[in-house]
Amino acid sequence: MSKIHAAITAVNGYVPEYVLTNKELESIVDTTDEWITSRTGIKERRILKGEGLGTSDMAVHAVNGLLKKRGITADEIELIIFCTTTPDLPFPASANILADKIGAKNAWGYDLQAACSGFIYGVSTGAQFIESGKHKKVLVVGGDKMSSIINYQDRTTCIIFGDGCGAVLLEPNEEGYGVMDSILRSDGSGRQFLHQKAGGSARPASHETVDNNEHSVYQEGQAVFKFAVTNMADVAAEIMDRNNLTSDDVTWLVPHQANKRIIDATASRMGVGSEKVMINIQRYGNTTNGTIPLCLWEWESQLKKGDNIILAAFGGGFTWGSVYLKWAY
Ligand SMILES: CC(C)(COP(=O)(O)OP(=O)(O)OC[C@H]1O[C@@H](n2cnc3c(N)ncnc32)[C@H](O)[C@@H]1OP(=O)(O)O)[C@@H](O)C(=O)NCCC(=O)NCCS
Repeated sequence: MSKIHAAITAVNGYVPEYVLTNKELESIVDTTDEWITSRTGIKERRILKGEGLGTSDMAVHAVNGLLKKRGITADEIELIIFCTTTPDLPFPASANILADKIGAKNAWGYDLQAACSGFIYGVSTGAQFIESGKHKKVLVVGGDKMSSIINYQDRTTCIIFGDGCGAVLLEPNEEGYGVMDSILRSDGSGRQFLHQKAGGSARPASHETVDNNEHSVYQEGQAVFKFAVTNMADVAAEIMDRNNLTSDDVTWLVPHQANKRIIDATASRMGVGSEKVMINIQRYGNTTNGTIPLCLWEWESQLKKGDNIILAAFGGGFTWGSVYLKWAY
């Protein structure tokens, strides 16, 4: 019997309607459209508005659309891996909440926290359940309501992040398509440069933590940039080497959308021209776990069976990694 690979058989995405432009940010913090565009590549981002709406509500839109496209019902899903840094609640897992909201009554699931590398970790771990034969339909969701943990008085972070969610379905493929390889890395000593100070067990919420704005993203941008640009490029180059892929063999690079300059550096290290790089950072900013599935969703109509696709990400933790897959449809 030929080897079972985990193939992406459907993809869908959802971004909220509200568009937060650089122009509007100019009226909120001391910044300019010119500064944001030249330093990050971002022009606008989406914000989820509405009392009581969380990341799972965006996931409901993304996943219901995905199920419809694939022509299956929610009760056929066996496992949900919900990659998010902004779960609806500290517990239970957003995977459980999503399963309830979409009616996936036969699924079990868990949340996966690897900051901006979450979706890569999720695809790689989800693939193991398919390859082992344990499951036949695994949903990997990547999404964040970053606006819920952003301090809109901090110009160094509020210009970067946005809200959005994407999802893919993994199913067995015995024709040689799907996830071929993955490299996952982490270095917890990098946590000092990018984290949320309070709200966890080490520093639970209090009046003081709220007053000090400790429930929002803390980032030392330059330090993170330095690690991100090196590690994301290195890991993408490593997965190409390991699979004997030349830059001509790579059909698409799907990079995490944190900063256009990091994306360009990764593509250049791989020797891949800009026409092969999926970039939507200008419209959505950094949606953390959402960036890669949102790219796949937006480029889906241009993808062809057999395309060699490299996913690459870097995020808080630090976490980083790369996935090599052969598109299956
Ligand atoms: C955050 C980031 C865009 C900042 O860009 P940068 O070129 O490193 O800018 P710096 O932090 O060095 O700041 C340069 C200057 O711009 C200022 N500045 C920062 N944010 C600004 C803003 N929104 N508007 C205007 N000026 C700003 C700084 O105060 C600093 O001023 P100074 O020189 O007078 O001190 C960039 O560091 C970055 O993208 N980092 C990585 C993010 C990332 O990949 N995160 C990974 C998690 S997914």
